[in-house]
Amino acid sequence: MIGNLRPQGRRPWAVAIWGDAMRGTVVPSSVSGIDVRTAVRLLKDEVIMDQLRVGILGLGRGLTHLRNFLTLDNADVIGACDRLPLRRERAQNRIDEVGASTRVVPEFDDLLDLRPDAVVVASNGKLQVQHAIRALEAGCHVLSEVPGAYTEEEFVRLRAAVERTGKTYMLGENTCYWDFFRYFRKWIAEDRFGPISIAEGEYIHSLPGTLSLPDGTRITPTQARAQGRADATPIWRADQPPIQYLTHDLGPLLEVLDDRCVSVSCRSAPWRCQDAPLRSDGQIALFETARGALIKIMVTLNTHRPAEHRYRIFGVAGGVEWFSYEKSCRRFSRHSEERRGWEILPIGLAAGGEDTSAGHGGADLKLARHFAQTVLDGNPAPIDVYRAIEYALPGILANRSAELGGAPISIPDLRRQPFEHSSFWNTVPLPDAEPPAAPYQPPRP
Ligand SMILES: NC(=O)c1ccc[n+]([C@@H]2O[C@H](COP(=O)([O-])OP(=O)(O)OC[C@H]3O[C@@H](n4cnc5c(N)ncnc54)[C@H](O)[C@@H]3O)[C@@H](O)[C@H]2O)c1
Repeated sequence: MIGNLRPQGRRPWAVAIWGDAMRGTVVPSSVSGIDVRTAVRLLKDEVIMDQLRVGILGLGRGLTHLRNFLTLDNADVIGACDRLPLRRERAQNRIDEVGASTRVVPEFDDLLDLRPDAVVVASNGKLQVQHAIRALEAGCHVLSEVPGAYTEEEFVRLRAAVERTGKTYMLGENTCYWDFFRYFRKWIAEDRFGPISIAEGEYIHSLPGTLSLPDGTRITPTQARAQGRADATPIWRADQPPIQYLTHDLGPLLEVLDDRCVSVSCRSAPWRCQDAPLRSDGQIALFETARGALIKIMVTLNTHRPAEHRYRIFGVAGGVEWFSYEKSCRRFSRHSEERRGWEILPIGLAAGGEDTSAGHGGADLKLARHFAQTVLDGNPAPIDVYRAIEYALPGILANRSAELGGAPISIPDLRRQPFEHSSFWNTVPLPDAEPPAAPYQPPRP
């Protein structure tokens, strides 16, 4: 265990004591006036680990986290848990493939008994707060899957738990790590588009598998009827208002705009999808931000078409857009001539040369690495509990607005100090170089 520890370099006195300790003489020679016991206690407080001992809760989506954390130098996956035997078996296969010694256990309690430093909460969105709070109170740092919470009240309880325990909480919003957003932020910071008045994000996904079989397999109600199955139960998303799944779209836009939402008006589309009868076919929310811009977000999980995300930024002097299926970005900068049209820039989910095999174009791996390093370095999380609330609470309140026929709803500021600036870009540096730009050529008919 001690081999995994080293003192933080920014505490010179701790480094000095550490040197004494490693020579076998814990004599606080470099710190006058304190006794050995105090020195050892201070030393314990001041050392950090080279490797974060991670436990993973939930092995559906959590299997991707398992795979990614297993590849990291700065993490040691000591355990993974799921109640479902089939999911444990898949995880064990992966662990065996890479020759790791990760323990696979059935219950969250079993995982906490292994005393991980950090827990990845990959249970479903209706259980995430309850599990995050248990992990925090067990002394663990938490990386939580999105949406992070299901109700406003849950977020208030989560905030209290983070403040009470002093542990790191990070929302695992992987889309923020998509490479093109670094360029969006750079170009806005360079004032290439003038003041940004409007932004737009869309998440389009067809997810009709709203039932689960006892082994965790998803099926649609149509399939369940055809197979005469009476053992299929609705999954947590069966009745989730789609706009509450907006963090993939709103989150990165808030970082790019360096902003937060202050009010929302939202409407629901009809409820016509027969495989998802408990939720609207889609919802469109209009948010006003603290800096006075408008952000439009559409989420549909019921419309049958290829899945995609779309992001558009509208400045008064230019703009930029990125659509999943085009896999490149269109830009129109200040002083560009309209007759010359858009520029196309080859930027995408990951930068050239990065590992793109690790989920969502490599973003999932970056997220895992950043979380582990953040905790090891004792730095604030790039998406801390306050920012997590700013990503997800607007969706919860958007649905409330939709239930009221679109009435505007204020979005409270749940920070202890008013929001000033995004800190996300402190850990994700903006690019120095410009990607090559080419004139947009519309496809030939
Ligand atoms: N960021 C992304 O790109 C992305 C992608 C997919 C899913 N997700 C999110 O990840 C979350 C999980 O998604 P999923 O599809 O894997 O959900 P899921 O319900 O299929 O899986 C959750 C697993 O947690 C296990 N579990 C729950 N409580 C447990 C307990 N106390 N002890 C042991 N095991 C327990 C369940 O058995 C289940 O297998 C969702 O919130 C989803 O929105 C995010």
